[in-house]
Amino acid sequence: MEKMKVGVAGLGFIGPAHIEALRRLPNVVVVAVNDFNEETAKSKAESLGIGRSYGDYDAFLADPEIQCVHICTPNFLHYPMAKKALEAGKHVVCEKPLANTVKEAEELVALAKKTGLVNAVHFNLRYYPLVRHMKMMQEKGEMGKVFSIIGSYLQDWLYYETDYNWRLEPDKSGESRAIADIGSHLIDIIEYISGLHITAVMADFATVHPTRKKPTKEIETYSGKMLKPEDYRDVSINTEDYATVMLKFDDGSRVWLP
Ligand SMILES: NC(=O)c1ccc[n+]([C@@H]2O[C@H](COP(=O)([O-])OP(=O)(O)OC[C@H]3O[C@@H](n4cnc5c(N)ncnc54)[C@H](O)[C@@H]3O)[C@@H](O)[C@H]2O)c1
Repeated sequence: MEKMKVGVAGLGFIGPAHIEALRRLPNVVVVAVNDFNEETAKSKAESLGIGRSYGDYDAFLADPEIQCVHICTPNFLHYPMAKKALEAGKHVVCEKPLANTVKEAEELVALAKKTGLVNAVHFNLRYYPLVRHMKMMQEKGEMGKVFSIIGSYLQDWLYYETDYNWRLEPDKSGESRAIADIGSHLIDIIEYISGLHITAVMADFATVHPTRKKPTKEIETYSGKMLKPEDYRDVSINTEDYATVMLKFDDGSRVWLP
């Protein structure tokens, strides 16, 4: 069996989870990794048993063995990194969101079409057994007509004002946080399971912590609170910690996400 050769860029929280998942597939092999921090790239490659590591993304893309690139970097890098990978002739599996603006997303869709390459966005919740089961019921017509969907997605990470991550910075994460980061999973599976499309939206956003304590040194996603009070500085926050959303589908049915 010929194996698809994959390179994974971004080795923080989710990159190694991609590598773990890819290694369970018989027809895929992870041949190289990339992180802008060369030391991280090298040490993670060593600990994960991957032959080649690159601190430079262009050098990584120039690796002729790599056929497909997984992009696992902060959101603002998805568009430029996916664009470069497609232009370099590589298939792309990019973490959500596809891009930070509709214009960028449309450009990537057009580029994938032009090059004939795959440019997939990674909505992994679609493959959870319960979601697959519901999708199969919908496809077989066992679910009946959908009148209303109610859903919520709670996450206690970033709950305290001392919790900090690049997701709190709109230039890195985008203009929306709770909805774009975890709400996007919920909205995606609602459309996926129901087979319906959202045509109207009304939402109320709230920022619970208008000020947060930003660490003065780098910390990894989901890492514990290992910093002391003198390691923080106060910063203003202007993206949402909380959102209530009402959606309308193309067939007139409704969604409520309290
Ligand atoms: N689908 C899911 O369930 C899920 C879960 C978590 C994160 N994500 C997505 O994955 C992405 C990464 O999130 P994370 O939590 O792993 O973040 P993270 O901060 O833990 O890791 C990001 C990594 O990217 C590296 N990086 C930064 N700039 C780079 C560059 N220019 N070139 C190469 N590497 C670079 C960082 O050094 C770091 O190792 C985000 O877009 C997020 O939305 C998805």
